[in-house]
Amino acid sequence: MADYVENGPLASSLMEAARSFGNYDLGSALADLVDNSIKATASIVEITCFWNDGQPVISVKDDGYGMSKAELHSAMRLASIDPRDERAAEDLGRFGLGLKTASFSQCRRLSVFSKRKGKTAGARWDLDDLKDKFLMEIPSPEEQREAVSEFPGKSDGTLVRWEKLDRLTEGGEAGEDEFNAAIIEAKRHIALVFHRFLEGEGRKKKLSVILNNDEILPFDPFNKNHDATQPLHNEVISYKGKRIQMQPYILPHHSKVSQQEYEALSGAEGYLRNQGFYIYRQKRLIIHGTWFRLAPHGELSKLARVQVDIPNSLDSEWRINVDKSDAQLPARVKTRLKQVIERIRKTSTRVYTGRGSRVGRSGITTVWKRRAIHGQVKYIVNREHPLVEQVLQNEKAAGFKGMLDLIETNLPVETLFADLGENPRDVVQTETDTDALFEATRTIISIFVDAGMKAEDVRKKVRAIEPFASNWLQIKDLVDQTVGAKK
Ligand SMILES: Nc1ncnc2c1ncn2[C@@H]1O[C@H](COP(=O)(O)OP(=O)(O)O)[C@@H](O)[C@H]1O
Ligand SMILES: [Mg+2]
Repeated sequence: MADYVENGPLASSLMEAARSFGNYDLGSALADLVDNSIKATASIVEITCFWNDGQPVISVKDDGYGMSKAELHSAMRLASIDPRDERAAEDLGRFGLGLKTASFSQCRRLSVFSKRKGKTAGARWDLDDLKDKFLMEIPSPEEQREAVSEFPGKSDGTLVRWEKLDRLTEGGEAGEDEFNAAIIEAKRHIALVFHRFLEGEGRKKKLSVILNNDEILPFDPFNKNHDATQPLHNEVISYKGKRIQMQPYILPHHSKVSQQEYEALSGAEGYLRNQGFYIYRQKRLIIHGTWFRLAPHGELSKLARVQVDIPNSLDSEWRINVDKSDAQLPARVKTRLKQVIERIRKTSTRVYTGRGSRVGRSGITTVWKRRAIHGQVKYIVNREHPLVEQVLQNEKAAGFKGMLDLIETNLPVETLFADLGENPRDVVQTETDTDALFEATRTIISIFVDAGMKAEDVRKKVRAIEPFASNWLQIKDLVDQTVGAKK
């Protein structure tokens, strides 16, 4: 018979180690608490972040169904739930760790108070009080009553309170400004991660998350409500009898939305970084802005974002990590995703290159021409443009020809591309100078008149040539005066 001795971990050491499980920041730590509130069917979550003269306190209150004393005690235990257990479909939990790891990633003192069917319970871990045993503090009945007295639903619910926020204050190094900056960042994170709950998707009542008295508004990374957002064909992948749904979107081109909207949708890291798959587990965003190394984060696909819905029953296959920030793809799914990417990138590229260019519009004689030969694209000055043609017929044409070649071969393509990628709205065409425009108008008219064209034909012809076509309103009167107004 084998012999056994109890050989558990040292409480204080294990809890200190638990502080580094996962890769949390304030936003993702708070998101883990919101997950728990959602699971407890809360419709209101109130977050308060109080600087408190450098002794900050953060609390999260919900109007969920709360916990009984026994449930609370079990919830405060590390790894309270076996990750192999089947989870209810709406359960956003994963390892039975979230409450503890998320909290200790931010603070050293965690208190939880809960009210279930009118009965209150409370429990506290203070890492500074822990020694070798897992001795949990039970706050006094008065403290419990006081804590649950202002629940958002005025009845059942849960309050999680963090004190000794050494990570946020960086052990006293960081001040109130940094604290406030972290809160703003956290707010952005919650607005994105829970946007489908905040929009009320598939819920009887939409979730409302209030941070320091401000309601957090959903941030939809696909801008689905905008007319110019282009949804592509959705696809379903069957994996181990479970359905993975994919809905690709091509975001509006910058010419289709206001600058404000364009920038808001870009996200903090920009379009380039934020393209790719947006993976939702039970409608909760767990990872975003990645092609899972199946494709590059290309300039031309930067408007493509794909909503992917996976059920929590595929957790072990997707290998969701503790802080729910990452997942690894099952190999068989990869192949399918790759095909989807190919299809999307083609469309996205079209959206991106199909607009804004005034080159080669049918029926209009442009100044520049786009030439695609053997897969290479070149831009050349249109030699058939009447104004260019006229100069080329001149006796000094040789010098002018050389000049054109010089301009064409030195077009700063890469800089232009980079600028357009970075900030398309800031790249504007040099405005046509009015005097120069009028001068050019007179020249072009004289060319046609000298060629013996009738007034009405001159008018039509000028209107079909750039830059006159685009500036027609400005030059109309001049044209009318010069060639004789239309009857
Ligand atoms: N706000 C809450 N309301 C009700 N129950 C909660 C709340 N927070 C945590 N719990 C309970 O505590 C358990 C442990 O939570 P947690 O450590 O986050 O692990 P997990 O979410 O993976 O189950 C949850 O499964 C839930 O039963
Ligand atoms: Mg949880």
